[in-house]
Amino acid sequence: MPALSKDSLVVVIGAGAMGAGIAQIAAVAGHPVRLFDTRPGAALAAIDGIAKTLTKLAEKGKMPLEAANHAASRLVAMNALSDAAGAALVVEAIVEDLAAKQGLFAELAAIVGDACILATNTSSISVTAIAKGIPAPQRVVGMHFFNPAPLMALVEVVSGLATAPAIAETVFATAAAWGKVPVHAKSSPGFIVNRVARPYYAEGLRLLQEGAATPATIDALLREAGGFRMGPFELMDLIGHDVNFAVTRSVFDAYFNDPRFLPSLIQQELVAAGRLGRKSGQGFYRYGETPETPEAETLPAGPTPAEVRILGDLGPARGLADRFVAAGIKVVEEGMIPRFPHGAIAVGDVFLALSDGRSATARSAETWGSALVLFDLALDYASCKRIGLACADQTMESNDSAIAVAAGLFQAAGIAVSQLDDIPGLAVLRTVAMLANEAADAVNQGVCSAADADMAMMKGVNYPLGPLAWADRIGIHRVADVLTHLAAHYGEDRYRVSPLIRRKVWSGKGFHD
Ligand code: NAI
Repeated sequence: MPALSKDSLVVVIGAGAMGAGIAQIAAVAGHPVRLFDTRPGAALAAIDGIAKTLTKLAEKGKMPLEAANHAASRLVAMNALSDAAGAALVVEAIVEDLAAKQGLFAELAAIVGDACILATNTSSISVTAIAKGIPAPQRVVGMHFFNPAPLMALVEVVSGLATAPAIAETVFATAAAWGKVPVHAKSSPGFIVNRVARPYYAEGLRLLQEGAATPATIDALLREAGGFRMGPFELMDLIGHDVNFAVTRSVFDAYFNDPRFLPSLIQQELVAAGRLGRKSGQGFYRYGETPETPEAETLPAGPTPAEVRILGDLGPARGLADRFVAAGIKVVEEGMIPRFPHGAIAVGDVFLALSDGRSATARSAETWGSALVLFDLALDYASCKRIGLACADQTMESNDSAIAVAAGLFQAAGIAVSQLDDIPGLAVLRTVAMLANEAADAVNQGVCSAADADMAMMKGVNYPLGPLAWADRIGIHRVADVLTHLAAHYGEDRYRVSPLIRRKVWSGKGFHD
């Protein structure tokens, strides 16, 4: 299906943060755009703001001044909804309320032709529900932009039960013609991004609740080992705990209280206290006049070993060997030993292994009390700046020395080390495993394709890698192990393995094979 032609009229209803951004995008793409808001003067003020933004972009060399002026001249404020007559596409970005959106579309249906596409920017309301009772409901579709719309590339094109595939394809092509990265999604709670992203916050909060480490330490691990732009706590502080908690609650309710989406009591307390994050001056961190610059807990320098033995295949952590060699450490490659079927690193009598979702304490019990230190996942072991470690309770008396030996090895390779309490799956690994699990469930339930799930997370929330491509990289069987062990440890349905991950393990095929 081709995109709408550039001369077709686009009408945007709601001139708030999202509506103004969408109007700007459509005007820059070359469409005549009309903007409407029930608040008197709001549409004109928004157009004025967009014109100023475009002039600034031209001054910064981001677009030619002539193009900026032309785009601004294509924007017109509507006095009444009847000015929408002749529109090829209406995008609504009004208040997030089902009755208001249904009322608006019903009114518009009497003004525009049957061929006019009625798109909603809703982030949480069922597109199926919005279309109910609207004449020609097959032209009602979700066109979900991300904030700030002109900067964020992703658009989720959401199909409700009535949406015609041709309409979804037209909106998809039009979003692409506007320079966006569209993905298809079936109308379901949270669509793709707001669903798949839940574990990023939930696992962070869970780690904190169980005393794994401080927020600053967990944030640093997700950034400096996981490659995420922001850790979960600083990100929740930025989003606002009221907003983030409300989204989590609405997804939890919408999935009939599936424990997968269980909201956090820690976050509820923050909301109750009015500690909403940056906007209120305090969340997990303090802002304002005396802002906090919290430091991650980092272990002091340990001894640099002369030699390490790599026992078997380290899988995703293979890149470490080269880093040790570059640090001048002698690396001796040996075969796998039965105690560590997924590989290990030995420094003297201290064994280091990538977490498999069991605690070091549980694994140590099975490895005859070896001095065992588990390390966390990194996006890229060849370049990561920090790593998380945990040690078994049984080795408490030798705990300090085992951790110091492990820390010394990573530090010699230029990697800062943070010690976590012995929490199963550590920080990055359990977060990534749960993101992949949720993405797999979305794919399994026909919400989206694997490629679109990954694209959505990279373009909608800037993840460094799509969760499913990441699962492929880690090894699906390892991801399945992590989830199985987490489920066994907690005895909670929250960590149940997605049927699609199980199927991938059995078929031996990755998500992107
Ligand atoms: P906003 O509060 O900044 O703007 C909403 C605008 O709609 C206001 O100017 C209001 O006067 C106007 N409005 C309300 N009812 C109206 C009606 N019946 N007819 C015409 N105008 C009306 O809200 P925001 O943040 O721009 O959100 C708008 C929509 O976009 C919501 O559905 C929201 O869920 C969705 N969304 C918001 C995102 C965000 O991060 N803010 C991200 C993605 C989607």
